[in-house]
This record gives sequence, structure tokens and C-alpha cells, in this order.
Amino acid sequence: ATTLGASAAATGRYFGTAVAAGKLSDSTYAGILDREFDMVTAENEMKWDATEPSQNSFSYSRAEPIVSHARSHNQRIRGHALAWHQQQPGWAQSMSGTALRNAMVNHITQVATHYRGQIYAWDVVNEAFDDGGNGARRDSNLQRTGNDWIEVAFRTARAADPSAKLCYNDYNTDGQNAKSNAVYAMVQDFKARGVPIDCVGFQSHFNQASPVPSDYQANLQRFANLGLDVQITELDIEGSGQAQADNYARVVRACLAVTRCNGITVWGIRDTDSWRAGGTPLLFDGNGNKKAAYTSTLNAL
Ligand code: XIL
Repeated sequence: ATTLGASAAATGRYFGTAVAAGKLSDSTYAGILDREFDMVTAENEMKWDATEPSQNSFSYSRAEPIVSHARSHNQRIRGHALAWHQQQPGWAQSMSGTALRNAMVNHITQVATHYRGQIYAWDVVNEAFDDGGNGARRDSNLQRTGNDWIEVAFRTARAADPSAKLCYNDYNTDGQNAKSNAVYAMVQDFKARGVPIDCVGFQSHFNQASPVPSDYQANLQRFANLGLDVQITELDIEGSGQAQADNYARVVRACLAVTRCNGITVWGIRDTDSWRAGGTPLLFDGNGNKKAAYTSTLNAL
């Protein structure tokens, strides 16, 4: 096949991108989006601060252009993200205890119910583990409501939208390390106790300090062996030329080698769309031209 989406579909997978609502009117951007991708993630527009700007007052207007664009172009939607310590509205940032816990449950119920039946997979909880070597939970206002906040989030999401896959999503969990071991133990425990979880998302933001791990495929496989799907959810790889192209190909090959790796999402379309200011971590250059990384990705699919 000649596009990322069609090539991924040939093995039953998807190829997605993060989308910014404000860029949909850019014809170069929308042209690449609709030619190459069959899954979209709202880059910011479904986050807590966007969907519940004041408590119990929900707004879906920021995400609406993305949702309607996806619907009219046969693109599925990964929902991102229901519970996260970042990009919370100000009112939630200053809450704690039972009030915050109840606000989180209400948020998940309302948002997942609003989009019920329209979301392929939700990042129910994002980035809940610490980067240190101790495998601890990240300290946050949500964590301080009690260690069970993650399972409560998953049970709440399942009740609101039984058809969406429910994912735990994080970064620096792409290889086997203390952080991914801790996520692995949590998933194992959830599966043993019947807490509803269907997938683990690996953000896969790679750069010189955090390269594609040598045990990337093995790590995806050990999670899949727990009996759930794995997805590459926010892929970008800093660099350029053949080295970058080779790294993209490695990531694609790792996913294809794992039966339960459902798909790959890159975190933006052109280098100029990247959240990495000044970086060149994506598949298209600022003019929308295909980079070597694009070609190697397509060829590896
Ligand atoms: C980023 C967006 O790309 C930026 O536009 C925003 O300013 C900050 O968030 N991990 C995630 C994503 O789960 O939601 C983040 O997206 C990138 C890191």
C-alpha cells in the first residue's frame, strides 16, 4: 500500500496522529492527515482543562472539529486523557481528598458518557508513575486521594463506555526498567482482580537522552503476554536523515512483531507541528514533504 494507514490496515492495525483542532483549516495539514492516517488523537482538546473548564460544566466545543473531521474521513479516535496530573483546570488543581476524588469520577463519567460508542480507546489514566528508580507512583493531587484512584478511574470509565478499550498510558516505560516494571505489576494485579483494563499505551517520545530501547519489542511483548493490547501512542524520534529513519523502522518492526500491538500514533504531522520546539522528530518536514523517516516507516509496515 502507498499510505501509512492503508499499509497498517493490511495487518489489521491502524496508523494515527495527534491532531490540533486549530490546524484543520491548513490545507497542507489536512491533506496529509486525510491521505495518511486512519486514527486521530486530540493533542489537547479532550484533556480535563478543555472539557471541564469549570466544575461540572462540560464543554466539548474544542474537540468538536476533530471529532466531526474524523467522522467524515473514516478516522477512528483515541480518547486522551481522562485522568492526568497535568492540564487540569485550575479548580481541580487546588482540590484534594474526597472532593477531588468525586470530581475525578464525575469527570470520567460525564466525558466518557458523552463520547460513548465513538472512541476506539481511552487513555483513562496518563503518567501516574514516578521517573525515579524505585517504581513508585508519581506524587500528585490525584495520587494523594488514595492509591486506589487508578482502579476507580478504570471502573468508572468501563461503566460509562463499555465499548471503548481502556488504556493506561505513560512515557519512559518503553523498555524494561523500574518504571515499566511498576506499571507491569499494576496491570498484572488489575488482571488478577478483575479491574477493567484492555491496553497499555507506550508514548515513545525518543531523543538522544532517551533512545529507542534495545528491548523495546520484548517489553511490548511482556505486556501483551498479560492478556491485553499494547499501542504506541505518541511516537516522535528526535534526529534526522538515515539514523532517524532507521529508528522509526525499528519501532514499526517491534509493533508488527507483537500480535497484540494494535497500532502506532505519531505525535503530530510535520516537524513544525511538533510539541518539541525547534525539533525535527516527525515524518514530514515543515513544508509537508515526506522525510526519509516517512519512507522507512512505510516500508517497514
Ligand atoms: C502535549 C501537547 O503536545 C502540547 O501541545 C501541550 O502543550 C502539552 O501536552 N505526554 C502526553 C501528551 O500525554 O498529552 C503531551 O502533549 C505530550 C506528553
